[in-house]
Amino acid sequence: MPELRRERLRVLAVEQVGPYSLLRVSRGMLTPGRPGQFFMLSPPGRLLPRPMSLCLAPPGELAFLIDAVGPGTRALCALAPGNTLDVLGPLGNGFRVDVRRPLLVGGGIGVAPLPYLAEALGRPPALLGFRSEHHAQAAALVPNAEVVLEPTYVTEPLAPVARRHDVLACGPEPMLAAVRELAPGAQLAWEAPMACGYGACYGCAVELDGSWKRLCVEGPVLVAA
Ligand SMILES: Cc1cc2nc3c(=O)[nH]c(=O)nc-3n(C[C@H](O)[C@H](O)[C@H](O)COP(=O)(O)OP(=O)(O)OC[C@H]3O[C@@H](n4cnc5c(N)ncnc54)[C@H](O)[C@@H]3O)c2cc1C
Ligand code: FES
Repeated sequence: MPELRRERLRVLAVEQVGPYSLLRVSRGMLTPGRPGQFFMLSPPGRLLPRPMSLCLAPPGELAFLIDAVGPGTRALCALAPGNTLDVLGPLGNGFRVDVRRPLLVGGGIGVAPLPYLAEALGRPPALLGFRSEHHAQAAALVPNAEVVLEPTYVTEPLAPVARRHDVLACGPEPMLAAVRELAPGAQLAWEAPMACGYGACYGCAVELDGSWKRLCVEGPVLVAA
């Protein structure tokens, strides 16, 4: 991990995207890494950092799309321009971008790594599923996206085309399980609670296909069997 660094970065803006917040920070000396890699962000007042996928990497910036689901993410979304926060990264294994017919698939806040991935892949087609119109405002960050809203699941438009594409997906676990059924060989970005982010605590160990994996080092992106 030659490019891994920890730095205190300055908040440039926190923008609302539907129910989510786009936290934009100055990049400092950190490198954005590969799409699907993540950073550990230290929310003010919390002991442990929280893992966040890189959403966008405009020149001189790193941007994270955050769903405020608990104390850490709420503290990150409450940051204001001029505040600073500790950031460590890039971490983990990202998506392989040497694919011929990419199709991005995202569900809910799983859309977070897709804007940066879409840029790396030349803006391929994307299928995105959301709970509501409000949540679907995040689709504006992903080029060439077809959006479905519940009760339709993203697997419905995916089913007829899955085997014609190289699928790269991020979303809730049930969505990833359904995607792997439809698209064997898909690259799937998994999630688990993470305390360190670099392999030291085993807090992120999950059993997948009969073997234990530390998602922060062997993932978060894994190829579906
Ligand atoms: C590699 C990786 C990348 C991520 N990228 C993003 C991102 O780009 N944007 C974003 O909003 N979130 C992302 N997450 C999830 C985010 O890290 C958690 O939502 C956050 O740590 C929750 O912290 P909290 O203190 O707000 O809530 P907590 O109180 O810690 O958790 C709130 C609820 O979420 C559950 N939870 C917490 N962390 C996870 C997790 N990692 N997986 C599944 N359930 C969890 C808890 O059990 C609890 O029910 C990512 C997670 C991983 C592992
Ligand atoms: S988060 Fe510590 S080992 Fe993965």
